Amino acid sequence: MADQSMRTYLDDLAGAGELIEVTGTVDARFELAGVLALLDRGPAVRMTTVDGSPYPVVGNVLNSRERLAQAIGADVADLLPRLAEAVADRQAVQVIADAPVQAVTLPPATVWAEVVTPTFFEKDSGGYITAGMIVAHDPVTGHRNASYARIKPLDETTGFVGIAPNHHLTAMARSAATAGKGLPVAVVLGAHPAIQLAACCYLGLGDDELEHAAALLGEPVRVARALTSEVLVPAEAEIVVEGLIHADRPVHEGLVNEYHGMYEDYGDGFTFEVTAVTRRTDPSVHVILPGLSSEHSYIAALPIAAGIRHALRNIGCDIVDVAVTHSGGGRVDVVVSIANARPGGAKRVIFGAFAAVSMVKQVTVVDADVDVWDEEHVHWARTSRMRWDRDLVLVEGVATDRNVPMQRDGMVTKVGMDATVTAGDRAVGPELAVPPAEVVRAMRDLLIDEGWADRLRPAIVVHSALVADGGRIRA
Ligand SMILES: Cc1cc2nc3c(=O)[nH]c(=O)nc-3n(C[C@H](O)[C@H](O)[C@H](O)COP(=O)(O)O)c2cc1C
Repeated sequence: MADQSMRTYLDDLAGAGELIEVTGTVDARFELAGVLALLDRGPAVRMTTVDGSPYPVVGNVLNSRERLAQAIGADVADLLPRLAEAVADRQAVQVIADAPVQAVTLPPATVWAEVVTPTFFEKDSGGYITAGMIVAHDPVTGHRNASYARIKPLDETTGFVGIAPNHHLTAMARSAATAGKGLPVAVVLGAHPAIQLAACCYLGLGDDELEHAAALLGEPVRVARALTSEVLVPAEAEIVVEGLIHADRPVHEGLVNEYHGMYEDYGDGFTFEVTAVTRRTDPSVHVILPGLSSEHSYIAALPIAAGIRHALRNIGCDIVDVAVTHSGGGRVDVVVSIANARPGGAKRVIFGAFAAVSMVKQVTVVDADVDVWDEEHVHWARTSRMRWDRDLVLVEGVATDRNVPMQRDGMVTKVGMDATVTAGDRAVGPELAVPPAEVVRAMRDLLIDEGWADRLRPAIVVHSALVADGGRIRA
């Protein structure tokens, strides 16, 4: 039986020299954010002595595509197809007794002593749980949901929870409030990365993300019934905070950082009432550096990319790859590569991506010879293959999410860029100047044989040469 905790993955990272331990005292106020920010694109970190946490704190765990792929046992090239499979596939969860995450049960008032709430950035209105995956059960409709939302302590047993108005979790909390009830939820820290990724997938209202994690895990998610509700919690997570979300008890938040790296002032959020805390005997606490950080970006970007790929393939687009860029906070800026585009095909992709995820503000469509995850390569395609008067799509006044940069009154101008080759644009053709692909392959093997694998830093056109060799470039 495969392990469904995050700890085995952390052990694997440690074994590979990809987890470093910081043993000096780190204050949960700003210092913890400083450590994670300084190591943002580097190894995962375990801070053993955090002032404000009785347990070690881990961060920067899922901060690259390579890490995400490794966490679900895939190659980087397979990451998106595997996530897209998970979007399409569901398997019922398996309810078990004696869940490790319920080894210790504690009263609600212990919550803020058990779970550290670091203050990350100078103007944030307080400290937050940022890696809390909220699993919910609506007793009225029977719907279940899993997604992330930040939580900030208010008093001994209550907190603020900030959820975007268009998220399913908000819909469920509002529906419970209409029935005069709080929405039963559990805040889950340290579930298996596959479960965390599934929680970020864009599914329909009522679709339970935990059922979609099975395709990534290779088996159903094992869950346990919460102690104070019918919520089902991943049994092998590290810590769970059970509670109720009260959508009819508004709380003002103040300034908070967003994925785009700036602050927002969203006004009121909901009240979270703690009803129990459960944990393993020796937990660690996962903290995701919020704002424009790598972990915050990539953990959301890949599931969004998978959802866009799924939606575009469903409408018949010949999609090769999809990136949701880090410079767009892993949310709003999308690059799609296509094969066999017919005239106007790229523009269809642009509208399909706008429609699939309302946060998407910018879409660039490139040919298969461009590496969608390499922002420099994509910018090269815009510079070299676009006639801006012909290939730019601007759609004004499209309804979008409140967090999208430069939105105004809930609307934004969306921009599409068709950076694919148009036949006849250049007298000498669109081919890139590269050494023959078979020579590039042979020399790559030679360099690897001579021990330079870690030192390879290919020119961007090498990607084009190798893809072209696979015959995927459109004439
Ligand atoms: C680390 C992390 C933190 C997040 N924090 C929040 C948050 O505080 N509020 C929010 O509305 N969405 C947040 N999100 C995004 C939602 O979890 C995500 O959009 C999810 O797909 C919404 O799912 P739902 O519509 O099923 O509720 C966060 C995502 C990640 C990866």
